[in-house]
Amino acid sequence: MRKLAERMGRARPSAIMVVADKAKQLKAAGRDIISFSIGVPNFLPGEHVYAAAHAALEHDSGQYGSNRGADALLDAFLTHLREGGFEGYERRHVAAGVGAKQVLFNLLYALLDEGDEILIPTPYWTSYVDIAEILGARITLLPCPPEQNYKLTAAQLDAAIRPTSKVLLFNNPSNPTGMVYAPEEIRAIADVLAKHPDLWVLSDDIYNRMIFDGLPYAHLVKARPELRDRVVIIDSISKTYGMPGWRVGLIAGPEDIAQAMVTLNSNHITNLPEVVTAAAVAALNGPQDIPRQKCADFARRRDEVLAALAAIPGVRCPRPQGAFYAFPDVSVAFGKEHGATPIRNDVDFCNALLDAKGVACVPGSAFGEPRAIRISYTCKPAELTEGLRRVQQFFAELT
Ligand SMILES: Cc1ncc(COP(=O)(O)O)c(C=O)c1O
Repeated sequence: MRKLAERMGRARPSAIMVVADKAKQLKAAGRDIISFSIGVPNFLPGEHVYAAAHAALEHDSGQYGSNRGADALLDAFLTHLREGGFEGYERRHVAAGVGAKQVLFNLLYALLDEGDEILIPTPYWTSYVDIAEILGARITLLPCPPEQNYKLTAAQLDAAIRPTSKVLLFNNPSNPTGMVYAPEEIRAIADVLAKHPDLWVLSDDIYNRMIFDGLPYAHLVKARPELRDRVVIIDSISKTYGMPGWRVGLIAGPEDIAQAMVTLNSNHITNLPEVVTAAAVAALNGPQDIPRQKCADFARRRDEVLAALAAIPGVRCPRPQGAFYAFPDVSVAFGKEHGATPIRNDVDFCNALLDAKGVACVPGSAFGEPRAIRISYTCKPAELTEGLRRVQQFFAELT
């Protein structure tokens, strides 16, 4: 009998895309829909990026390129790392891929055999679990509820690590919560990691240029430089530069893992296109005023979202300090009804909100926290204000 591989039985489409697609369909059918669902930046990169892409087109070789990534891209990333305080990285420590998602897939593929244990703090970005499941890894979730500001504590990590634990997935700033770890929290986690030399750490740092309130960007490798031989830094141009469709992700880590990325790329994508590479280099090397302005803009929007949520009795939202997400605990609505629609859980909540008010949010269970919903606040400013008004109205109508 014809059969797909057994692992495909464990593969599922991204839950975020499912909600985003539903919102798109309703919009296409003429409904007035405001989407807080997908985490896409609401801006385009500067003119210099398009100019670099045009120039690259004119000189395009049309040939295969480096499996690691073009030297210009690797060097631009190395400069970005140095500016961020990451010293001692060279070309042999870095590699590029088709967005952070493909890079993460490859990293997990390179590190996890079937049955190997991965530790994933919850709430998590959906693809961590989806990819680990496809690979047949043993997933141990470390619940970080709103009571602890959705952040992993050093004590919790210490208690969770076993001799068999192979990988920790660490995300800072966080999608879906927008939480940012303070330097002392990072230091305490780094101290725990220092005691467990066999544990790999994938540090998903793709929102590292979107940190608010003057907070410093603390990092495990900066707190404890000796962790460099097993912490892999993951970055992407998607969110920082408004370039999610260009698909460029980057890693920096020990030489063997960077080489593993190169080997997988050689069997998989071969290389990034020259035009895309030129655009990414221009974004990384060019003026940084757009990312800076956007970061300030997102901080203001965060304030608007928090103010609107604070006005809803019983809803609690730990204060995000980065990225462009808020992750309020809406469980106060569970057990109530909107019109004749019962709200039993986060999925009912999001469906009823979309049907009744045309506002699309992602249920928290997609991120492993079923008491919450994710609000991505990158839509147009007027839509954000109106969408938040509708959320308030929805709550006010619950019985
Ligand atoms: C935490 C996190 N990591 C990785 C990614 C993937 O980013 P990219 O567009 O570079 O594939 C996303 C995208 O939403 C994300 O939120």
